[in-house]
Amino acid sequence: MRKRTIPTFLGAIAMAAVMASAQGEQRHDPSMHMQMQHTNSDTAVVDSRTIVHFPNDLRIHTLANMRDHLLALSEIQDALAGELYERAAEIAEQRLGMSSMALHGAHEVGQYMPKAMAAIGTEMHRSASRFAVAANDAAAADDIKPALAALSSVIRQCVACHNGFRVQ
Ligand code: HEC
Repeated sequence: MRKRTIPTFLGAIAMAAVMASAQGEQRHDPSMHMQMQHTNSDTAVVDSRTIVHFPNDLRIHTLANMRDHLLALSEIQDALAGELYERAAEIAEQRLGMSSMALHGAHEVGQYMPKAMAAIGTEMHRSASRFAVAANDAAAADDIKPALAALSSVIRQCVACHNGFRVQ
């Protein structure tokens, strides 16, 4: 019994060591490193995003909206997976699209944004509305590919703004 349990125990330690080193490798994945260099100009530690000053309340409100944006993307993907295309379209239009601009106080926030940032924001709302149309079409055409491509364009606006700006 003893002879059997000890190797098993050692085996478990060896396994844990292998997993830990695999995790270590993941942390040092060169492609991740390149991504950091890519997003942060010269070195990985320099944050080259433009700082944008918002009044505190507006900053808190904006970040809460952002978290809802992320949730909306997840709900959209969930709806697409369930072939609920009209539901996906509605979430996109109401929470991210042109219809969401009043809800998010886009006009108020917009006045504190540099022009380039506001332009990306507007493009995000537009592309979300375009996705909504594509998602509605997917139901009729039974082809989801144009809607998936349109969703990717929405997410690219998230990425573009996050690469360029941060708020304080
Ligand atoms: C017009 C610019 C802009 C667009 C478009 C944009 N964001 Fe953001 N987002 C920001 C800024 C600025 C921050 C704050 C970053 C910082 O200060 O480090 C932020 C922060 C966030 C955060 C963190 C919130 C927190 O509590 O800290 C999430 C999540 C987020 N955005 C999701 C999204 C998603 C998803 C999209 C696209 C559907 C999106 N954002 C589109 C500008 C934008």
